Amino acid sequence: MADKNIFPKDFKWGTATSSYQIEGAPNADGKGPSVWDTFSHVDGNIKNNDTGDTACDHYHLWPKDFKIIKDLGVNAYRLSLSWPRIFATGKETSPNQKGLDFYSRLIDALLENRITPFITLNHWDIPQGLEDDGGWTDRSMVDAFVKYSFHVSKHLGDRVTNWITHNEPWCISYIGYIAGHKPPGLKNDWAKSLAAAHHLLLSHGLAIPEIRNNSKQSEVGITLNLNTAIPASESTYDKDACNFYDGQFNRLFLEPLYKQRYPDDVFEHLKTTGRITDQNLEFIKDGDLNAIATKTDFLGVNYYSRAVIRNEEIDEDKNLPKKVVMGPKTDFGWEIHPPGLYDLLVKLKTKYKVGNIYITENGCSYGDAPNSEKKINDQRRIDYHRSHLLEVKRAIVDGVQCKGYFAWSLLDNFEWAQGFTQRFGLVWVDFETLERIPKESFYWYKNYITNNKTGE
Ligand code: FCB
Repeated sequence: MADKNIFPKDFKWGTATSSYQIEGAPNADGKGPSVWDTFSHVDGNIKNNDTGDTACDHYHLWPKDFKIIKDLGVNAYRLSLSWPRIFATGKETSPNQKGLDFYSRLIDALLENRITPFITLNHWDIPQGLEDDGGWTDRSMVDAFVKYSFHVSKHLGDRVTNWITHNEPWCISYIGYIAGHKPPGLKNDWAKSLAAAHHLLLSHGLAIPEIRNNSKQSEVGITLNLNTAIPASESTYDKDACNFYDGQFNRLFLEPLYKQRYPDDVFEHLKTTGRITDQNLEFIKDGDLNAIATKTDFLGVNYYSRAVIRNEEIDEDKNLPKKVVMGPKTDFGWEIHPPGLYDLLVKLKTKYKVGNIYITENGCSYGDAPNSEKKINDQRRIDYHRSHLLEVKRAIVDGVQCKGYFAWSLLDNFEWAQGFTQRFGLVWVDFETLERIPKESFYWYKNYITNNKTGE
C-alpha cells in the first residue's frame, strides 16, 4: 500500500487505562480512600449509583489483562498509578511497598514482552486525605505531588522510561469546581477552579526534575485534553463565546506550559463578569510560571471531538442561525470529527512549537454487545479509530512529530459519572461475571498494528 511507510519505525502503538476505572480492590494491601472512592459512594453522583469498588477487578485479574495486552500486539501500554495505594492518605513519609509492588510486577511483565509502560502519576484518584486539606486548591498539594513523584520514580525509575505527570488537568479544575460532576463536586467556583489548575501545573513543573533525576533515561510530559473550537455562526456573540471557551479549555494550559504566561483575556473576562477578583489570583507567586514552563520531552494529547460553540447567554432570536453542520455522534453524544485531530496537531506544532506528541487517548463509546456467538461487531468503533489514525498520518506527513497512539481503552470500564453505561473498550467486560471478550475492533487494531508497525 502506498501509504505504508508513514508511521515512524519507533512509533508507539498502544492502548490506555486508568487505575480507578479498572482496578477495584479499594482497600487492598494498605490502600487508602481516593476522592473517587468517596465521591462515587454519594447517592446520585454516579449513574445507577455505580462505584469503582470492583470495576474490572484488574487488581486481582491483571495477569489475564496482561495476556490480552500481549495478544493485542501493542508495543506500549499506558496505565495510571493509584496514588493512595502508595501513600494511603498522601501524608505518610514513606511509600507503601505493597502498592509499589503491584505496579512493579505488571511493569516487569510488560518489559519482558517489550511493551513500554507509560505511567500516568495522576489520573484523578488522589488520596482523600489530601482533599480533606483543600486538595488542588491548596498550595501544599504541590509538595505532596512532588514527594509522591519522587518516591515512585525512585522505585520504578530504573525500568520506567515514560512518565506523564497529570491526566487532563482541565477535567479536574473545571469539572471538579465549575460543572460539579467530578470530585470535589463544587459548582461555579472559578476562584477555586483556577487555583486548582495553577497548582496542578506547578506540581507538574516541579516534579519533572525529581523524576528525571531518579529515572535517567526518561521522557517526561503531561497529558492535556485538547480540541479545536469553532463558533457555531459568524456572529460576534458566538465568536466571543468561542474565544472564551478556547481560552479556558485549551489556552489556560497550553500558554503557561509553552509560552510561560496565562491567557490574560480569560482572567479579564472572568473579572468583568464578576466571577473572580484580582485577589483571587494571588495564588500565582513569583517564579511559578518559570517552573510550569520547565521543558518537557513530549505532550500527551487526548482527543475525542471538536467543540462547536454557541453563545447561550443571548436569546436565540438575536443570534445568527447556526452555520456549522455537525457530524454523527457516538453513544456518549460526542460528535465524531476526525479532521479536528489533524487541525489540533498542526496548531500545536505551529502556534506552540510543540515537538514530540503522543496521542495518549482517542476512542469512542458504543454499547455493541456480544451476539449469540459471543461476537461483538463494533464496526463503528473500527471506523472511528481508522478515520482518526488517517488524520494522524496526515499530520505526520505535514511535519508533526507524532510518536505514538493509544486507543482508549483496553477494557470497558467505570466511566466516571456515567458509571458502567458508556463502553469505550476494545474488549467487552461483563460486569457481573467479569468475563472479558475481545471485540471486532480489538482484532482490527491488532491487524492495523501488524501492518503498520515496522514501517515496511
Ligand atoms: C477522558 C479520560 C478517560 C476516559 C475518557 C473517555 O477524559 O481521561 O479517563 O474517561 O475521557
